[in-house]
Amino acid sequence: MSQQKLETPAELFHYQVRSALTMEHHSLEALDELRSAAKDAKITKLFTHHATETREQIDTLEQVFALLEVDPSTAPSPATTGIKNQASSLLEKVDAKLRDRVALMSALGNEHFEISAYEGLILEARALGAGEAADLLQQNLDQETHTSEELRSALQELLS
Ligand SMILES: [Fe+2]
Repeated sequence: MSQQKLETPAELFHYQVRSALTMEHHSLEALDELRSAAKDAKITKLFTHHATETREQIDTLEQVFALLEVDPSTAPSPATTGIKNQASSLLEKVDAKLRDRVALMSALGNEHFEISAYEGLILEARALGAGEAADLLQQNLDQETHTSEELRSALQELLS
């Protein structure tokens, strides 16, 4: 790796916000794949709705970049590449009748990763005195938390 080291908490934070942008793009790709894999109309609707929210989250991150005066470029997010790959490989492995549950479980795992990412970013933003950025990141966290609850209840309903 020949990249420059991140030396300060601010540089680290900015890099992580750029990774979060990649994370949201991965979410959009994953939601698209999960929506195509799912059969149940209620579940596909949930994925469509969250894809719309994910586009809003990308816009919100772009506002964060503007506030921080940081170039809105992406940084790698190998964890969400992995989450996406895990979903794809499991979808390939299962019989068609199990796809709904795989889609919901994969989406739930992705949401929990996103929740942890935003929780950390919000704390970092507050520590750096970037209160407005923290408030914007909180909006995304609230959406992710709400989505994870919807996914959990859809999964519960499917399995009961
Ligand atoms: Fe998201």
